Amino acid sequence: MARRMAVGNWKMNGLVQDLGEIDLLKSEHSAPGCGVLICPPATLIARMADHVAGSAIMVGGQDCHAAEAGAHTGDISALMLRDAGASHVILGHSERRADHGEDDATVQAKARAAQAVGLTAIVCVGETEAQRDAGETLDVISRQLDGSLTDDPALLIVAYEPVWAIGTGRTPTLEEIAQLHDAMRAHLGDRFGDKAADIPLLYGGSVKPGNAGEIFAVSNVDGALVGGASLKAADFGQIIAALDAA
Ligand code: 13P
Repeated sequence: MARRMAVGNWKMNGLVQDLGEIDLLKSEHSAPGCGVLICPPATLIARMADHVAGSAIMVGGQDCHAAEAGAHTGDISALMLRDAGASHVILGHSERRADHGEDDATVQAKARAAQAVGLTAIVCVGETEAQRDAGETLDVISRQLDGSLTDDPALLIVAYEPVWAIGTGRTPTLEEIAQLHDAMRAHLGDRFGDKAADIPLLYGGSVKPGNAGEIFAVSNVDGALVGGASLKAADFGQIIAALDAA
């Protein structure tokens, strides 16, 4: 698995007509020096997987159910994501934690289900603004890592996304990002030993073409989980280029 990753999270955006953005990305980044992954809404996974076939671009899901199959109306299993052409799945995004009441145990169960079928779990952690203001950031991240991760470090990516930085245009300082990412690497080292060095650590929250380069230069930042700026190939392409150059 590539240690450096540019991941686009399309969230609840994207129709068939938007697949043209993927064609643009494909033609302009035919041999990226980093892993490039797009996580579209579930409705587009299979079509997007067809679009990127033969290219370096990978496709992922934004969530999965913890069960293998069964009576769960509206839900999607990890095997279904793989079957549709996904290689990764985002889990525990703060929007899922907030909108669907997902706690660390739920995220851990989903990560287990994803890894069991060979998907790489992109586990998201991050503090709210109130937790940041109370000086609890490191404790919150440690608790979320302890509760959300499985025992498998091989099919794992960790994304640090401060909730207050998502979609707001605000970001932590580079020093704060460095402190958090260094702390996460150390935490993973305690848990997984030498294998922790290979786990990609992504920063997410208002990553744009204008700030990607300086963020990618930060210690223990292996790439980004990008929301709004991943929707247009022109913007996401610049972020990929910044990661390639880092
Ligand atoms: P924005 O890049 O739009 O701030 O979103 C970040 C995010 O939540 C990615 O998962």
